[in-house]
Amino acid sequence: MWKWKLTKGASAWTHLSLLPLLLALLLASALPAACRDARPAAAAAAAAARSPRVTNSTAVVGRHARSYNHLQGDVRRRKLFSFQKFFLRIDKNGKVNGTKSRDDPFSVLEIKSVDVGIVAIRGLSSNYYLAMGKRGELYGARDFGIDCTLKERIEENGYNTYASAEWRNGKKQMFVGLSAKGKSLRGKKTRQKNTSTHFLPIMV
Ligand SMILES: *[C@@H]1O[C@H](CO)[C@@H](O)[C@H](O)[C@H]1NC(C)=O
Ligand SMILES: *[C@@H]1O[C@H](CO)[C@@H](O)[C@H](O)[C@H]1NC(C)=O
Ligand SMILES: *[C@@H]1O[C@H](CO)[C@@H](O)[C@H](O)[C@H]1NC(C)=O
Repeated sequence: MWKWKLTKGASAWTHLSLLPLLLALLLASALPAACRDARPAAAAAAAAARSPRVTNSTAVVGRHARSYNHLQGDVRRRKLFSFQKFFLRIDKNGKVNGTKSRDDPFSVLEIKSVDVGIVAIRGLSSNYYLAMGKRGELYGARDFGIDCTLKERIEENGYNTYASAEWRNGKKQMFVGLSAKGKSLRGKKTRQKNTSTHFLPIMV
């Protein structure tokens, strides 16, 4: 460490000139810590790697803003990008599945807070709400109703899950999920820990 090798004779001026450098070093080491608070660095890195649009820590900042905004009934325009790299889409027939295409207009969604931790997700082009029926079937609902209330949660890996706020399979929650082939999964077959229920909300 060169700075400790300064002789006693080093002038006060030299010490002063080091201050900005020290401050910069302090700031640089403080920043990653703040990011880890928001979500695990590994998950942030994974998110950055998976998502073409989330390239820096903006997403982390966004997460804070989003949790806060739940209380404000905000509307977020997002795509839901699955762990298996599909964009969730709700098409004009009310069908829910995934697409690999980045240009699919049916994958542009509006996520609106309807209660604390509860969201409604609507396809912007199709105007259908993402809905889960009593038996766990995923479909597009023309009108907002209890099937459309989804409990949004941030999982340990930084991805979000969406469980029906209304329906359960016995005691088990039922989640929005896409299979490895991009087909919608029945809520009864989903698990919170299974990555087929994990989605990153990406700004559009
Ligand atoms: C970070 O990413 C956002 C979009 O995700 C972009 O608008 C912004 O310019 C980026 N900032 C830097 C420093 O790259
Ligand atoms: C999703 O559904 C559409 C319309 O039926 C279909 O064309 C497309 O191939 C499906 N995508 C996948 C990944 O199965
Ligand atoms: C995750 O869920 C999918 C779809 O239901 C299933 O095919 C897969 O085996 C599950 N993976 C694990 C590790 O349970």
